Amino acid sequence: MAKFRINLGVTGGIAAYKAVEVMRLLQKRGCDVSVAMTRHATEFVQPLTFRALTDKHVIVDDYDPQNPDPIAHINFSQNIDLLLIIPATANIIGKFANGIADDFLSSTYLATTAPVLIAPAMNTTMWDSAATQRNVRQLKKDGVHFVEPVAGELACKTVGTGKLEDVENIVAQVLWLLSEPPTVAGGLTGQAELPDVRINMAKVQPPATAGGSDLNGERFLITVGGTREAIDPVRFISNHSSGKMGFAIAEAAAARGADVTVVAGVTTIDPPSNVNVIRAVSASDMHAAVVKELSSTTVFVGAAAVADYAPANAAEGKIKKDGRDFMILELKKTPDILAEVSKRRSKGMLVVGFAAETNDVIGYARSKMKKKRLDMVVANDITKKGAGFNTDTNIATIITRSGSEIELPLMSKREMADRILDEIVKLRKVAEARA
Ligand SMILES: Cc1cc2nc3c(=O)[nH]c(=O)nc-3n(C[C@H](O)[C@H](O)[C@H](O)COP(=O)(O)O)c2cc1C
Repeated sequence: MAKFRINLGVTGGIAAYKAVEVMRLLQKRGCDVSVAMTRHATEFVQPLTFRALTDKHVIVDDYDPQNPDPIAHINFSQNIDLLLIIPATANIIGKFANGIADDFLSSTYLATTAPVLIAPAMNTTMWDSAATQRNVRQLKKDGVHFVEPVAGELACKTVGTGKLEDVENIVAQVLWLLSEPPTVAGGLTGQAELPDVRINMAKVQPPATAGGSDLNGERFLITVGGTREAIDPVRFISNHSSGKMGFAIAEAAAARGADVTVVAGVTTIDPPSNVNVIRAVSASDMHAAVVKELSSTTVFVGAAAVADYAPANAAEGKIKKDGRDFMILELKKTPDILAEVSKRRSKGMLVVGFAAETNDVIGYARSKMKKKRLDMVVANDITKKGAGFNTDTNIATIITRSGSEIELPLMSKREMADRILDEIVKLRKVAEARA
């Protein structure tokens, strides 16, 4: 039995040929793939290619008398694990976002209860246009998942964001999405062990040019990564933080027009190229750097996993183990950066914290928000598969001061970064209305 049943919708963009590669890779991973194409997609790739490779009828026009199923627009997308659109044109994104059902693919999108994953590809100006970005935001609100386009040379010979993500990364994202238990709408008919592929965030992250300008004029200060607290010149205490979530927020905020400074501890990936970076290894280095940068900040995001305790007296020379079976290490509390930022905040500054917990996640997050007077907390249960440290995906709940809870299902950290920023934009509007 196939691992997953995936319906692939192909639309009329130059990257349509890559849908063939994605389909082949999914088949190799044990997935059963059925294909539908828009009429414009058939200008780029023949339905025969997909028919030959899937051994199934490829639906283009459900009015066609050759179509074996007279109500295919409903039946096609029932009992599947995923509706996958590759490539997604600006046109289909607009139709999905607005409930237009004037062809087979847009009708079957409305008829499905399965999760939907869309990989857009188009010219940079089309991608950046206010209408496309508005439609993408709407679809994200509707729960649609995205494999964001990346930067590169496009078919129109321009260089910018709009290129279809690498096929391997698309397949990785599909398998990540489907390997999660069936909490997404529609349920999953199959379960897989965690696939042996990982999304390469460095590649998945769109570059600085993506997005709009709704954060113009904001000055973000973001702490990222883990800290290292020296025991002696050789050893340290640290944690599993990779910096991926913080860097994704930094990259996304800069792409949306903010001026971004990152105070980065220890990270396993490189920072994005569109932000200012200050390196700080220990909690006290990070504290000093934040205090120095704070005066011009309008939004502070504490995404770093700062050590709560550090060795009280780091040894100057390497501690020798000779003759010792036990060693007692005395620890002292490190400065609470988030609480201090909140205390020192200037008028209008928004302060956002993260709460990575293993139990009573929402309870702890709420009490952290109250104690430190935060505007928003992003809470995540790091025991969930696909969430927390050193993963390329995350699952979280955003809690705001007004009491609202926004649940974010499994998605890439880059996608989550935009969802978090959407809430920051809303908080800013509320703060401005009150001022
Ligand atoms: C040569 C050529 C390449 C195109 N490439 C793209 C593309 O990459 N992305 C896109 O959104 N539209 C592209 N278009 C425009 C779409 O084909 C057009 O918007 C069409 O209406 C999409 O229809 P569909 O969404 O039903 O497939 C291209 C058009 C042509 C003629």
